[in-house]
Amino acid sequence: MKLLEKIRQEFLGLDTEYRTIDGSSQRRVYLDSTASTLMMKAAYDAMEEFYQHYANTHSLLHFSAKIATSEYHWAHDRILSFLQADPERYTCFFTGSGSTAAINRLARIFRDYRPDRGTAFVSLMEHHSNDLPHRKHARKVVHIPFDMNSGNPGCIDLSTLEAELERNKDSASYVAVTGVSNVTGIINPVYDIAELAHKYGAFMLVDGAQMAAHLPVQISGHENPARNIDAFVFSGHKTYVPGSPGVVICRKDILSAMEPEEVGGGMVEQVFVERYLISEKFPDREEAGTPNIPGAIGLAAAIEVLDTIGMQRIFKDEDELINYALDKILALPEIAVYGETDCSRCPRAASISFNILGMDHGIVAAVLNDYFAIAVRNECFCAHPYVKEMIADYLESRVGQVDFNDFDINLKIKAGMVRTSFGLYSTREDVDLLVAALKDICANRDNYSAQYHVDDNGNYVHNQFKMAESNPFSVQQYVQQELKS
Ligand code: ALA
Repeated sequence: MKLLEKIRQEFLGLDTEYRTIDGSSQRRVYLDSTASTLMMKAAYDAMEEFYQHYANTHSLLHFSAKIATSEYHWAHDRILSFLQADPERYTCFFTGSGSTAAINRLARIFRDYRPDRGTAFVSLMEHHSNDLPHRKHARKVVHIPFDMNSGNPGCIDLSTLEAELERNKDSASYVAVTGVSNVTGIINPVYDIAELAHKYGAFMLVDGAQMAAHLPVQISGHENPARNIDAFVFSGHKTYVPGSPGVVICRKDILSAMEPEEVGGGMVEQVFVERYLISEKFPDREEAGTPNIPGAIGLAAAIEVLDTIGMQRIFKDEDELINYALDKILALPEIAVYGETDCSRCPRAASISFNILGMDHGIVAAVLNDYFAIAVRNECFCAHPYVKEMIADYLESRVGQVDFNDFDINLKIKAGMVRTSFGLYSTREDVDLLVAALKDICANRDNYSAQYHVDDNGNYVHNQFKMAESNPFSVQQYVQQELKS
């Protein structure tokens, strides 16, 4: 497919090079898309073009204001159609710079919508952004553990969820679950979970931060309406447009029953000294203040591209890449991969997390960067409970196979993981480079470890090599250089 290849090859930053420890300049291998994806050029170009017409959507009558307003509205509609949400029943609005503000907002909305139903059900595999807002705003949170018995480590235990919903059925407010884990990449059966939630009168909130860019989503229009999702959030910066906002898609009937969480300009019809009249229009009433207009437009442009390629196709390609990477990494005996690795039993998208046994994840990530220019994320990925549980589960399942008497080994690998993660632009060549680097690290672990010390911030730092000395980019230098030219 020519379009897909073109879009893949054009992402900004694919040719970025850094000087590594041996002094050579190496192409950065970007394997950190779960943290943030790279920028899609087609979306970047659309934003750049839009800046020629930029104006505030609160202005009305000049040409630019009209263009900005109509394109900004189109962005909302485009996202609704991309996620198959019926525009009559759902609205889309932008908030914050990722999913965090969106979920905090929804947690307060659900709390206030049904004060008599205060219990939120949250899985233990959530990113903190889909856990802590519920702990803070819901009256009660029930954490749903993983299914450790059926041979699918890392997946939500649906029978426990159902038992907890039954036990708390009079107070069940909503179930909040990630569509795709940002740690293991495990894809949750969100439509089955929605059916379960609805059976007990609970709403279904899906954190789609790792889902929207990776697989098709259908919010509404299911043959069985119980499988529809009530609220869905995702992040623009994980959907190929860094700098774009967080997004909420939510049922209008829930939102219109209450005063919007945020008030200010743009969401009111009339303001008098003693009272104000809130607009009944969606999404206006949910977007107080001047929004991130270019970011929203860039995001909708990226979505136009993704939808034109087809999410089923994107998912299929990524599935092949994930399986390719899993096969190669699993073939390395010194590496522990977390979560169910048989994708036919438990499909995955975007991420694979692992450890080299007996080696701190911090050294591995630092070596991958400093020696190989491979960018991965390490530690707990803002999902502490899940990471700790997955490591404990791995250790338990390997008793007798790996020598865990060494307290140091346990401690080192308990502190976190290394995560490789993929986007549209990731290739088999990237995976091969990662695997070759991991083999080299496994074979020379003592040599590599001896080159590092831990700094005052707890980070592994090379004894001689310092990035700062060869940092090829500084905003100030760039601006000053441009000013001179
Ligand atoms: N939520 C992002 C991650 O998982 C930052 O890396």
